[in-house]
Amino acid sequence: MNAFAPQALVSFRQVAKSFPVDGRELQAIERFDLEIADGEFIAIVGASGCGKSTLLRLLVGLDREFRGEIRIDGALIDGIGGERGIVFQEHRLFPWLNVEQNVALGLVNEPLSEAGKASKVADYLALVGLTAFARAYPHQLSGGMAQRVAIARGLVASPRILLLDEPFGALDALTRQQLQEELLRIRQRERITTVLVTHDVEEALFLADRVVVMAPRPGRIKRIVEVPLEHPRERGGYDFLRQREALLHELTGEGDYVAPQLKRVEDLPFEFLAC
Ligand SMILES: Nc1ncnc2c1ncn2[C@@H]1O[C@H](COP(=O)(O)OP(=O)(O)O)[C@@H](O)[C@H]1O
Ligand SMILES: [Mg+2]
Repeated sequence: MNAFAPQALVSFRQVAKSFPVDGRELQAIERFDLEIADGEFIAIVGASGCGKSTLLRLLVGLDREFRGEIRIDGALIDGIGGERGIVFQEHRLFPWLNVEQNVALGLVNEPLSEAGKASKVADYLALVGLTAFARAYPHQLSGGMAQRVAIARGLVASPRILLLDEPFGALDALTRQQLQEELLRIRQRERITTVLVTHDVEEALFLADRVVVMAPRPGRIKRIVEVPLEHPRERGGYDFLRQREALLHELTGEGDYVAPQLKRVEDLPFEFLAC
């Protein structure tokens, strides 16, 4: 690295992770090296089983057993911390708590007064457009609304890094697009560093500054692709579609034909996905 380059906010150095399966070590991630700049938006794409969720769990500090180093602002991570927020594919809201109580869970470790907490919760509910639903319960929400609550909970402690693990994967196409646009708007306001795991190549290209393409068995970086497109990005634009084809090509290996209508990793023939 250039001696004058600014220090990365997040750095993975030679990160490796294995799981014991049937008395053998399954190598889930191998030699993962990545530096993420402050404010950067990284998307991680790759077929199922490539280690994407495992990587996010390591970065958020839910799993402390791994080799190599993960640093934030130069300091080794040590378990979970308020500077990292995470959103999963399933909203993981507690059904017996209402929307504002669920969001307030993101503040349990924050040294704030009750009034201070209430004001932050209200602020983030407004940010995701759910002020009118503060007293609603999860079963009264649509899938998209529940995921907005999960995003508000992930952001309410003002983390510097937001981690998203296929957050829109279970939503219909229209809601997914709306939430992608909302995520960009939120990110602009919060200036937050973001790491998004997604199956959806179009989603990665619509949102990210760089796309990390993972290869399976063991999970490793195949390539890192810069996305040189200005925001707001035009999903049907020529440059966008060309980038999408190139990225799909990257995912499917050298020399493989990719039909132009294929959009998402799930749409690819089975042999490309087998890990
Ligand atoms: N707790 C676990 N025990 C054993 N194997 C695991 C565990 N978690 C993940 N794995 C394995 O590690 C690999 C990577 O999993 P994961 O990170 O969930 O992949 P992805 O999110 O890319 O689909 C897979 O082969 C998976 O079966
Ligand atoms: Mg996963």
